[in-house]
Amino acid sequence: MLTTSRGISLVLALAISTLTVLFLLLLDDATPTLLVVAGSISFSVSYILMNVTLEFLIFNEISNIYGVLEKIQKKDYTSIPDKSDKLSISPLRKINKTINSYAQAKNKEIEALQKNAEFRKEFIADISHELKTPIFAAQGYVHTLLDGAVEDKSVRLKFLKRAAKSLNALDKLVQDMLTLNQMESGVVKFHFESFDLKEVIHEVIEELEHKASKRDMLIRFYYDKEKTYRTFADKEKIFRVCQNLISNSIKYNNDGGEIDVSLKIHKNQITVEVKDNGKGIPPEDLKRIFERFYRVDKSRNREKGGTGLGLAIVKHILEGHKSKISVSSTLGKGSIFSFELPLEKEEAVVSSNKLIK
Ligand SMILES: Nc1ncnc2c1ncn2[C@@H]1O[C@H](COP(=O)(O)OP(=O)(O)O)[C@@H](O)[C@H]1O
Ligand SMILES: [Mg+2]
Repeated sequence: MLTTSRGISLVLALAISTLTVLFLLLLDDATPTLLVVAGSISFSVSYILMNVTLEFLIFNEISNIYGVLEKIQKKDYTSIPDKSDKLSISPLRKINKTINSYAQAKNKEIEALQKNAEFRKEFIADISHELKTPIFAAQGYVHTLLDGAVEDKSVRLKFLKRAAKSLNALDKLVQDMLTLNQMESGVVKFHFESFDLKEVIHEVIEELEHKASKRDMLIRFYYDKEKTYRTFADKEKIFRVCQNLISNSIKYNNDGGEIDVSLKIHKNQITVEVKDNGKGIPPEDLKRIFERFYRVDKSRNREKGGTGLGLAIVKHILEGHKSKISVSSTLGKGSIFSFELPLEKEEAVVSSNKLIK
């Protein structure tokens, strides 16, 4: 009882009224009625004043602080409602607010650290898993050769070629991982320049044509010959984006399939579209194909030598150009991947050159 504001007020009010009565007793003409009236008035006034002061300025605030601390213990960081914000002048309220905002800031920090730790764990598990496949394969062939197969002329070359293929896959994987890592940590610099997109796409198609023709596929490229598709971007990286998209449309297509690449201009944007009539992507996988190492059909893709990093790199490159990759796909019918880059107007280039002169 003594620890509540009422208990303390009661004791203090009793002490004050007793002192008042004792003081009045010293006066000669103090009547008993006067003593009773003075005693009860001083008691009630001091009780009310004490109680209000303690209740509003101290106890309320302390219980609020306890409330905050309890919430922090329960890891509930929502802010405590301030009911008497305007009435209160107590410095304790400031402490209360400071504790709350400090706890919230610390909580955010902890969450970020936990997320990072989780991400790192997952990343290391993914990498180890991905590295294991080509290493085991190469190791297998080399050991079989060492165990005597090297004497057998009919398998010697075959096994060596397979080991080399696995090591090439390993090299590609490590290179892609390095690129992605550099992009995610912001180390990679973009070198923007002005170039014509149709020339870059022609180069990519030339490079991939033989791969497509091996499987009787046709790559068609649609654009308006009268127009230029000049843009301001990182040429090498956009080459890589187109290479990834067109190579996917070959890899995940059926033999004899078709690939249509097109360039379209709409307002101040150039849209690059890569369309295939291949296997397509199930709707539940569509959002995840841009995640690192995500493959729709794990066994099928590893056979084809994919690292599962191509689209993650594409996404990062386009983000670096303030653009994004879009995809629509129908299972069994095919997929369309597209992105936009700004169109650089010829007149703008000419007039800015004139201004510089
Ligand atoms: N044009 C496409 N048609 C069907 N599936 C595709 C296509 N492009 C990408 N995918 C799916 O998305 C996954 C991720 O693609 P990507 O990041 O390029 O990795 P990968 O190295 O396996 O090609 C692929 O493994 C494949 O399952
Ligand atoms: Mg790919």
